[in-house]
Amino acid sequence: MTDDRRAHWESCYAEAASTAPEALPFLSAHAHELPASGRALDLACGRGGNALFLARHGLQTAAWDYAESAIAGLARAATGLPLQAECRDVIAQPPAPESFDVIVVAHFLHRPLFPALAAALRPGGLLFYETWCGPYAGRGPQNPAFRLAPGELAAAFPALSLLQMQEDTDRAAGLWRR
Ligand SMILES: C[S@@+](CC[C@H](N)C(=O)[O-])C[C@H]1O[C@@H](n2cnc3c(N)ncnc32)[C@H](O)[C@@H]1O
Repeated sequence: MTDDRRAHWESCYAEAASTAPEALPFLSAHAHELPASGRALDLACGRGGNALFLARHGLQTAAWDYAESAIAGLARAATGLPLQAECRDVIAQPPAPESFDVIVVAHFLHRPLFPALAAALRPGGLLFYETWCGPYAGRGPQNPAFRLAPGELAAAFPALSLLQMQEDTDRAAGLWRR
């Protein structure tokens, strides 16, 4: 199953248009919360719109995804920026404890990783998490395992302080500080 999913993402990125990937509006709206320096991670980054945003902000940015084609494209787009794109299975190799000042996760959901994400923040660090929520109604994944239940994200990181939460009929986004 994991290999099937990985092949699915590889073929998506191989066919993807070469338009510049964009950052989440939720991330850019809260850019004033970002530290001026430090280490950032875009986990399951895809084409890396959020990683590029963090690196342009001046953060030493890691971008991890297991789709080689996405990582290769991001590495090209990141020329001259403090961004290291790495082909990595984030479930097999989650971030180490207290290793990042900012972590962004967008449109990726693997619930057993939640405690490791909280622990991977340095004291004072920020976690941005946005993904699909509620029953499928035409957007995002159809598999309910990859969709948050309503209200689930707000309770997902009890070890962190919740700063912002936005939830509508099909997306939820949150910002926490350790
Ligand atoms: C819906 S895309 C989201 C990409 C990006 N975060 C965005 O919002 O545009 C999900 C991404 O998760 C990646 N992914 C899924 N499982 C993964 C795993 N175990 N390790 C690394 N990347 C994974 C896929 O390759 C894909 O790029």
